[in-house]
Amino acid sequence: MKIKVATRVNEAREFLKRKREAGGTIGLVPTMGFLHEGHLSLVRRAMGENDTCVVSIFVNPLQFGPSEDFDAYPRDMGRDLDLLASEGVELVFAPGVDEMFSPDHSTIVSEKKLSGFLCGSARPGHFDGVCTIVLKLFNILRPDRAYFGEKDYQQLQVIRRMVRDLDLEVKVIGCPIVREEDGLALSSRNTYLGEAEREQAIALSRALAQARSVFDAGERGCRSILDVVRMVVESYPMVSLEYAEIRDAVDLSPVKRVDRKVVVAVAARIGRARLIDNTILCP
Ligand code: PAF
Repeated sequence: MKIKVATRVNEAREFLKRKREAGGTIGLVPTMGFLHEGHLSLVRRAMGENDTCVVSIFVNPLQFGPSEDFDAYPRDMGRDLDLLASEGVELVFAPGVDEMFSPDHSTIVSEKKLSGFLCGSARPGHFDGVCTIVLKLFNILRPDRAYFGEKDYQQLQVIRRMVRDLDLEVKVIGCPIVREEDGLALSSRNTYLGEAEREQAIALSRALAQARSVFDAGERGCRSILDVVRMVVESYPMVSLEYAEIRDAVDLSPVKRVDRKVVVAVAARIGRARLIDNTILCP
């Protein structure tokens, strides 16, 4: 089947309306393009669980701060379409900014509890931008299921909360982080890393692996686990830690001891890349 690329909202709606009328389920993989194996793992899952898989490719200006990398964000539509065609994806929704936002666009969706810390501190307004675009994608494409990577763990929880709070009829599915052989979590932003920076970028996954091993050895105190995380990151001189925190895995509230399922989340800057990673600990 030839891949269909819809750049217009109505085109995508029409295509999916026919699929829905034929009784088919729809799985959505929202992306900002420059696809890697992490995205493709979501696509494969969506293809396996739905009759139609739609992938959206849209670099959403609303979720970038004024001094962030919107213009520099890597883009390669030709390569993305080739990859998705070889996975057998039926529909790609790839609108331009003008198609998604009227010049006088003035409605923002804002989640108020889970968005103000971790990545929300360094990127004010980021999750408003994410919620707004994801809700628009849900309204346009009306998927039965939507697939998000667990690398963006806070994003996943914020979207789950939005779906619950606004009674959206979509099932949100989180999928495991895909890593390079040395542990680096796949991210489109890894392309910003120079050779030496790339070598140092393993700091994040190494630190999380170390957190896991002290946890496995019996440590439950968050302060001690985070001391280990910081120590590992500090041993990589090109890596500047932005945050290392342990929070409840569902509501992201701060925790002192690992007495329930928690997420250990880290963000760091390496050259011009800002990278995030996380791991779940479950007592
Ligand atoms: O995770 C991403 O790539 C983006 O935040 C998303 C969910 C596609 C919204 O623009």
